[in-house]
Amino acid sequence: MEINLAGLLPEALLIDLPEIDAQHEEIFRRIESLKATCFGSGPVSFAEFESLLDYLKYHFASEERIANAVGLDFAGHATAHRDNLQALQKAFAGVRNGARDVHSFLRYAEYWFERHIAVEDRPFAASVRNCRAGFGDAQQSANSS
Ligand SMILES: [Fe+2]
Ligand SMILES: [Fe+2]
Repeated sequence: MEINLAGLLPEALLIDLPEIDAQHEEIFRRIESLKATCFGSGPVSFAEFESLLDYLKYHFASEERIANAVGLDFAGHATAHRDNLQALQKAFAGVRNGARDVHSFLRYAEYWFERHIAVEDRPFAASVRNCRAGFGDAQQSANSS
């Protein structure tokens, strides 16, 4: 498997769906960048937090699109995504009004993602690969066009 990522994503969290692995890498890159900003002396960038939340929406929609393309039931996984987005939006509102510490937001986000990738995205990726294998090459090339 030739995936050459910048190294933020531990090998144990790669799920062998290149598009999704690249998005997970980007999520961790953004969290690291926010950590660097927030642990430094610079001001906290609310725009960067908003951009992370927007990217998460895009990422969750990507997984849903892939599931739909191969006919996988994604309802439970979609609920986990929706609940996470709501929790992060609520936590971010707390950061904005000063009730919540930015570091606890980032720790929560990082913990949730590591766990979600290991527990939910990994079996999801295995199911996608199984479905794709079952479709055969003709269907795969139709899907990728
Ligand atoms: Fe994911
Ligand atoms: Fe997911």
